Amino acid sequence: MQRILVAIDGSEPAWKALEVAGDLARLANARIDVLHVVRPEPPPEGLVAYAEAERIPLEEEIARWRSDRLAGDALVREARDRLAARGVSAVETIVEEGTPATAIPASAERLGVDLVVVGSRGRTGLAATLLGSVSQRVAQHARCSVLIVR
Ligand SMILES: Nc1ncnc2c1ncn2[C@@H]1O[C@H](COP(=O)(O)OP(=O)(O)OP(=O)(O)O)[C@@H](O)[C@H]1O
Ligand SMILES: [Mg+2]
Repeated sequence: MQRILVAIDGSEPAWKALEVAGDLARLANARIDVLHVVRPEPPPEGLVAYAEAERIPLEEEIARWRSDRLAGDALVREARDRLAARGVSAVETIVEEGTPATAIPASAERLGVDLVVVGSRGRTGLAATLLGSVSQRVAQHARCSVLIVR
């Protein structure tokens, strides 16, 4: 195993997935790619229509998207620090725009990783089911092995 992709959303299960990915990387001497997916920046025309439909000021929507993006940058920085603290330094961080369920398998393919690691749940779901929709879809669509951390 040479390359591991771990997807994080800031939730506890995702931090746990990062820990497990870090342990595996250390054991296998593998590289780690840390991925966080943010919603895409709406195109200007779409943005105007969206803001009108939702009756929110355009500036507010732009500010919200910027703050999501900054939070995403901070999230992957924290992941890098946590991995460094566990002795893993061969780390790349990626903040990508898109839908997590499709962007994670697509990145796995593009990067040619041997394993994708995700948490069983994330921050957006109800705790009623054991698996969130993103971890389910990654397990279904990734062409490489997937580890779902609980
Ligand atoms: N935006 C994201 N970027 C990167 N990884 C993500 C993202 N969202 C979820 N994941 C990954 O998928 C795992 C499972 O999260 P998921 O979103 O499936 O659960 P949930 O939020 O509880 O439920 P749902 O989103 O279906 O309502 C997370 O622990 C994380 O590893
Ligand atoms: Mg989610």
